Amino acid sequence: MSATTSDIEKAASVLQAGGLVAFPTETVYGLGANAEDPAAVARIFQVKGRPPSHPLIVHIGGAEHLDDWVEDVPATARLLAEHFWPGPLTLVLPRGRRVPLEATGGLETVAVRVPDHPVALSLLAAFGGGVTAPSANRFGQVSPTTADHVRAELGDGVDFVLDGGPCQVGVESTIVDATGEVPSILRPGGVTREDLEAVLGHRLSVPSTSRIRVPGQHPSHYAPRARVVLVEPEKVVAEAERAQELGHQVGVFLPSDLAGTPVKAHAVVALPDSPAAYARGLYGLLRDFDQQGCDLIVASLPVEDGLGLAIANRLRRAAGPRPS
Ligand code: TXA
Ligand code: MG
Repeated sequence: MSATTSDIEKAASVLQAGGLVAFPTETVYGLGANAEDPAAVARIFQVKGRPPSHPLIVHIGGAEHLDDWVEDVPATARLLAEHFWPGPLTLVLPRGRRVPLEATGGLETVAVRVPDHPVALSLLAAFGGGVTAPSANRFGQVSPTTADHVRAELGDGVDFVLDGGPCQVGVESTIVDATGEVPSILRPGGVTREDLEAVLGHRLSVPSTSRIRVPGQHPSHYAPRARVVLVEPEKVVAEAERAQELGHQVGVFLPSDLAGTPVKAHAVVALPDSPAAYARGLYGLLRDFDQQGCDLIVASLPVEDGLGLAIANRLRRAAGPRPS
């Protein structure tokens, strides 16, 4: 069921009253609060179980509002905003006075984006201000791509859930540090590196997953309950069967060119050929494996170009060391 006009009005009034609203974006569902209400922002951290030092993204209704939230907008940032907004690109820029430090985890920079989803844009228009929102999941877990995922995970922690159907991109926005002369990618996501480079006219650096460069980017993140093991594509079947034989309940991400191969495992999905379809389905597949009782997921990394870069980043971090 998609949100109605009266749902949007209700959600905007919940935000105005200091409440929390979960809403769809093109990437994943967000858990939103009035960006200018420090008490409401504090509740986001509480409901997510997220450390308050981890900065949030401020969602705004259009690029024309950028100067309301950012101190000085460099020309490069304006170029990227004009090109990719609304869309899955987040720009890190110098914090404007309107943004409370609670929303930025104490940083003097702020992350801003305009989501490309009709329900999100209607909500932002009806509310009028900025909506600060992380992904609407418990800290460290898989991001939600349907309203049901949000309800199952956050329940009464959210005051209102806007349903906009399944998210079309399926992985989070690309985060670009645009504070300096030369922008850099802090998190690969829905806008590809190649698309950014085409607009900028030069190559961009991408972080290695082995180093934590951004607050809030722990090695283990986007993680299902089941442990995730990454192997070479041609070893997926053998590794899955070996682990199943050892007594694990194994979920298998079967590379698309192996579709149809019989695998002795608890649950098997053949991955789609297209990276866009893979990205769209990724988090739902991880959740499904958890629900089916898998305790181990065997997967391989896709080729790291286009959306494959974001998919590989999420898989690596889902497979990362877990806090004990
Ligand atoms: O697609 C998305 O970006 C989704 C939807 C809801 O918009 N949001 C999302 O939010 O993924 P969250 O909180 O799960 O991830 C935001 C990331 C965090 O890793 C945080 O460290 C980074 O943005 N971030 C936020 N502000 C920052 C800043 N000032 N400097 C560097 N990184 C920042
Ligand atoms: Mg998140």
